[in-house]
Amino acid sequence: MTQSKDLLFIDVDTGIDDALALLYACADPDAKILGVSTVVGNVTLTSATRNTRAVLAMIGHSDIPVAPGAATPLSTTPTDASVVHGESGLGYAALPEPRAPASSAHGVDAIIAAARACAGKLTLVATGPLTNIALAVMREPDLPRLLKRFVIMGGAFGSPGNVTPSAEFNIWHDPEAARIVFRMFGGVGATPVVAIGLDVTRQTTFDAEDIGAFAHRVAGKPRGEALVRFIADSSRHYFELMEKWHGARYLTMHDPLALGVALDPTLVKTRQCTVDVETSGRITMGATIPDWRGQWERLPNAEVAVEVEAERFKAMFFDAMARLAESAG
Ligand code: RIB
Ligand code: CA
Repeated sequence: MTQSKDLLFIDVDTGIDDALALLYACADPDAKILGVSTVVGNVTLTSATRNTRAVLAMIGHSDIPVAPGAATPLSTTPTDASVVHGESGLGYAALPEPRAPASSAHGVDAIIAAARACAGKLTLVATGPLTNIALAVMREPDLPRLLKRFVIMGGAFGSPGNVTPSAEFNIWHDPEAARIVFRMFGGVGATPVVAIGLDVTRQTTFDAEDIGAFAHRVAGKPRGEALVRFIADSSRHYFELMEKWHGARYLTMHDPLALGVALDPTLVKTRQCTVDVETSGRITMGATIPDWRGQWERLPNAEVAVEVEAERFKAMFFDAMARLAESAG
């Protein structure tokens, strides 16, 4: 009996690590990506949509529909993360203009349609701000019961934020949306938010040496050169910033780990709890607060990742890239 494929729908703000996450998902022979929606975050919605289409076209997946979603957050007018991802959103990588047009559907409608069509079988993964997810669950309150799983890259639950001392970028960019999402998920019959936060993603990194080893591994493979060039050129922008900020050249696999967990939950250990989001604090805006001890006496709504098999995931990531390098056409 053939194993049924993992059905995925991915919401992205394609930036560098979103692109690597998309590549990772496309490399899994047991996964089927039904669609991708885009959201403002790292860069503008237009850039996120163009980048997503270009990355998918690079590996021959222009067949995957890309539906633009929200161009502005629900509640804030934040700055983007182009300092991290570059003006284009893909660092120094230069990809040809994608020929396949974006979907005519709105990203929020595409999320709802996929969840309804695959009731109980779809895993939704969000690797950007939660604006589209909030709009989707407000339009379809049954979304948390229609989904099989819901995985986000977002939050910082026991470690410092990355935009402020208390907030991680995806939550900080649209805290009202994040608060709505955490309040609507979990509870009776509703899938919880599987939250892959900075606590675990910061442990998953790669560097130029890893890229060099990958280049050697895929030399002569049909898509080897293009993938090495993309990974090297996109991550080099990130390396330069990390060296400036932290004195070391590396890329943190924030979004790839979220897709990694969506496809292999054993990569992390999670703890069940109730999470809420600060939406008004002068210095705590966007903080994700886990109620580990049940003090709020509210139903749990999240599975928060607290440990990760980082080295195993890095090996899985480059194995996935090597599979992509083998794929021809
Ligand atoms: O904090 C990391 C997250 O913010 C990642 O999703 C990255 O792409 C940025 O969106
Ligand atoms: Ca992202």
